[in-house]
Amino acid sequence: MKLWTYLDIPNWENIRDEVNTWFAQEYPNIEEVKMLTFLPNQVIFNAVPSFKLWLDENNIEVIGFGIFTFRYTETTENITENTYGGNIVHTDLANPTTYRFNIPLMNTIGSVTEFFDSPIEKAIEAANASATEDSPTRMWKFGDEGPLLDSFVLDRPAILNVKVPHRVRMTNRLPRICLTVCPANDEQLLKFL
Ligand SMILES: [Fe+2]
Repeated sequence: MKLWTYLDIPNWENIRDEVNTWFAQEYPNIEEVKMLTFLPNQVIFNAVPSFKLWLDENNIEVIGFGIFTFRYTETTENITENTYGGNIVHTDLANPTTYRFNIPLMNTIGSVTEFFDSPIEKAIEAANASATEDSPTRMWKFGDEGPLLDSFVLDRPAILNVKVPHRVRMTNRLPRICLTVCPANDEQLLKFL
C-alpha cells in the first residue's frame, strides 16, 4: 500500500489563496484556532469553481474539508494524554478512509511528514493510553514509533495514507496550516497512487 504521492491539481495555489482569505476573515486570531477547523464545502466551491470542476472531472466526492493547524511542541514532557498534535506519531482512526489529500496553506515547507513501521502491540498499548471520546485517535509514545518508512515535505498537494502511523515533524515555530480533503471512498483516489 502506497504511503503518499504528490497530486497534480491545476492552479492549486488559487485554492490556497482563497482558503487563506476565508480563514483569516473567520479566525482573525490564530492563537484561538483549534487543531481542526471544518470548512463548509460550499465556501470552497464558490471561491474556487475550477477546483470543484477538477473534483467532478475526477469523480471525487468530498465528504469533508478541514483545516489542520499544527503547533510546534517545545518538549516531549508537556504532551499529555489529552494533547493531540500532528507532531505526535498517530493513526487517524476516526477518518473513514485510508487516504486523504492535503493542500498546503501556510508554513508547511521545511516540516516533514514521516511514516513509521510501528509494531502492533505498541499500537494497542498506545491506543489504550491515548484514545478518548473526544479524540478517537491512536498516538504512539515517544520512542515506540519504530523505524522510519518514508517521508515527504508538503510543498504542493499530496495524497497520504492516514492509517499508517505518521507525524509531522515540525521545523518551524509558526503554526503549520494545511487544507485536508476527505473523499467519500478510497477508490476515488486510487488512480493517482
Ligand atoms: Fe494524521
